Amino acid sequence: MTSLAAELLDWYDRHARALPWRVGPRERARGTRPDPYRVWLSEIMLQQTTVQAVKPYFDAFTARWPDVSALANEDEAEVMKAWAGLGYYSRARNLKACAEAVARDHDGRFPDTEEALRALPGIGPYTAAAIAAIAFDRPAAVVDGNVERVMTRLRAMETPLPDAKPQIREETTALVPTHRPGDFAQAMMDLGATICSPRKPACALCPWITPCAGRAAGIAETLPRKAPKKAKPTRHGMAFVVERADGAVLLRRRPPKGLLGGMSEPPVSAWGEGVAKDDLAAVPSELDAMGLDWRRVSADVRHTFTHFHLELAVWHARAPLEAEAPDGCWWSGANALSGEALPTVMRKAVEAGTRR
Ligand code: ADE
Repeated sequence: MTSLAAELLDWYDRHARALPWRVGPRERARGTRPDPYRVWLSEIMLQQTTVQAVKPYFDAFTARWPDVSALANEDEAEVMKAWAGLGYYSRARNLKACAEAVARDHDGRFPDTEEALRALPGIGPYTAAAIAAIAFDRPAAVVDGNVERVMTRLRAMETPLPDAKPQIREETTALVPTHRPGDFAQAMMDLGATICSPRKPACALCPWITPCAGRAAGIAETLPRKAPKKAKPTRHGMAFVVERADGAVLLRRRPPKGLLGGMSEPPVSAWGEGVAKDDLAAVPSELDAMGLDWRRVSADVRHTFTHFHLELAVWHARAPLEAEAPDGCWWSGANALSGEALPTVMRKAVEAGTRR
């Protein structure tokens, strides 16, 4: 093992974060093996999502579905509801498909190599490496955003991302020890999250302060360099919140594929750049027969997706108690609403529409 790996593991033994999905270094040393199901679930949830945001979802999922077979046997709609609010909803669809594949093709046990893991739905190169290392102690190079920051600083790499990626991978691979590769991967993540932070790294506390070339050159906090990001366009649209006399709200389901696929929403117009926010010709045709009287609520709803900002004008109409839900729609009562598969942007629209 390189002395770099040894110094990092020594630091991890003293400073590992306690995380709900983690088997810490002490328990590992005593022979406790991580549950691959929990490792997989946490890695899918942690893609593009913070540890703080993931924790309550991880606890709720593992309490309700304690193993991969339980998840495989659940209805997709229930999984989507439980995922609501976490974002990047294709992850939830793939989660269910992956659980089914593991239950069906692998006897309910996750395969233990990167290659076999990558063949499963929703598991790309990063996640396969993370599961192989953390759950099965395979010497895989696990490179996420934290690790990119740590490595570009350690080696003072000034090539901007994403061009630096192959070199980062190579340098990381050279450090991965054959002893405790799972702890090494988690130690890199912890170092990036707690010491080697983006703006003000706590170099005085870092186990790699001496070998760090970025610090020696006085450029650590300016790394990694990044190619300039494209500005995100803003798209506009209209959300139509129909409220029944008893407070129930009319919802429908989005098409299974594409943005927010399979999730629920109040009826909305098509959205795009330059779409009007006050053109009632955009009311979806399934609402036509209801004879609704629309008023615009004062605050628009804003939400940022990976590739664009969205601004939805929110319109509200009241419907009588006896109003029937049009085809493809349903009434969601005040008690049911919190359990619906509403993405955050759609929850914001419903809240804006029913606020008074
Ligand atoms: N980010 C991605 N995977 C993680 C993990 N296993 N622990 C902490 N942060 C992470």
